[in-house]
Amino acid sequence: MKNFNGRLAVITGGGAGMGRELAIQLAREGCHIAMCDLDEANMAETRELALADAPAGTRVSTHRCDVSDPEQIQAFRDAVLAEHDTNQINLLFNNAGIGGGGSFVNDAEENWQKTFDICWGGVYHCSRAFLPALIAADASHIVNTSSINGFWASIGPQTPHTAYSAAKFAVKGFSEALITDLRINAPHVKVSVVMPGHIGTSIVENSGKVLGRSPDSMTSEEISDLRDQLASSGLPVGNLPDDSIRDLIRQRARDFRDNAPTTAAEAANVIIDGVRAGRWRILIGDDAQIIDQLVRDDPEAAYDPDFVARISEHGHLQQLIAATEPQAG
Ligand SMILES: NC(=O)c1ccc[n+]([C@@H]2O[C@H](COP(=O)([O-])OP(=O)(O)OC[C@H]3O[C@@H](n4cnc5c(N)ncnc54)[C@H](O)[C@@H]3O)[C@@H](O)[C@H]2O)c1
Repeated sequence: MKNFNGRLAVITGGGAGMGRELAIQLAREGCHIAMCDLDEANMAETRELALADAPAGTRVSTHRCDVSDPEQIQAFRDAVLAEHDTNQINLLFNNAGIGGGGSFVNDAEENWQKTFDICWGGVYHCSRAFLPALIAADASHIVNTSSINGFWASIGPQTPHTAYSAAKFAVKGFSEALITDLRINAPHVKVSVVMPGHIGTSIVENSGKVLGRSPDSMTSEEISDLRDQLASSGLPVGNLPDDSIRDLIRQRARDFRDNAPTTAAEAANVIIDGVRAGRWRILIGDDAQIIDQLVRDDPEAAYDPDFVARISEHGHLQQLIAATEPQAG
């Protein structure tokens, strides 16, 4: 698909970050947009931004849907097709995601499951729900957002990262296997898997909100657990009061967003170019390229505590580690 004018794109997680930028950039080309998110105010803002630059007649619809819930996804699909008066869609961006459920050993099963159900379940159930509409179109493309954690299950040696990594590996495996399935059974439907490095978005803050772990809502007990984790990694936080720990969490979320090597707008641009070029494998950022190469060069060493030093030698990952390590959730 070289030209998106007049096509219909469904974007999950369109309220912020890369989903918002995809909506803005595609609408600029006259592509109709149907987005979902949990945050209706953010979606309304994305809609306004997208329409401000779009040619007259471009439609942008917003739908509240939790992609971890298959029933809500069915309702979202039905609402999209009704509102755009069609039985077809051309693009499905399975983009919504959160971080969390880091430790399989220590973290609450609820948080682990929620992270997995959004990051993997959302991709799976949306692909299933929209497949008939993708097949009904003359040309269509599924774009699944995985991560560097879809091929390297780590964000540093001090931070367990199990639920997110398991989900992102699943997204990558599913997308790669779909290539053959679609080629045999629905050759006009294409699929790409997106593997971003560190992108400057508010995902740390937004994930906290989805998991009910934003600094304001964390209990003293949760703050105390986090203080212990931070202290055990060598940070001098043992005597910090709860509010200072809360400020630290907020600062780290801002650092993650503000100190990233790639912006959300740049990332969306890489994704759209990749789809236009028909590439199934879309890496975003020099960090993603380098980590991919280093893991392939020496997979046995990928989880050695000093492996990150090899990445740091290339000037990558320090900002991400500084903003996320160690991470509660
Ligand atoms: N930012 C990064 O460094 C990075 C790196 C690799 C991969 N990713 C992936 O990129 C995708 C987009 O992330 P982002 O960085 O733009 O984050 P973001 O937080 O800016 O945007 C994600 C959006 O998804 C929404 N969302 C979360 N849970 C949802 C749910 N259950 N149902 C519907 N919407 C939901 C959020 O409200 C938010 O608007 C995610 O899949 C993420 O895992 C991000």
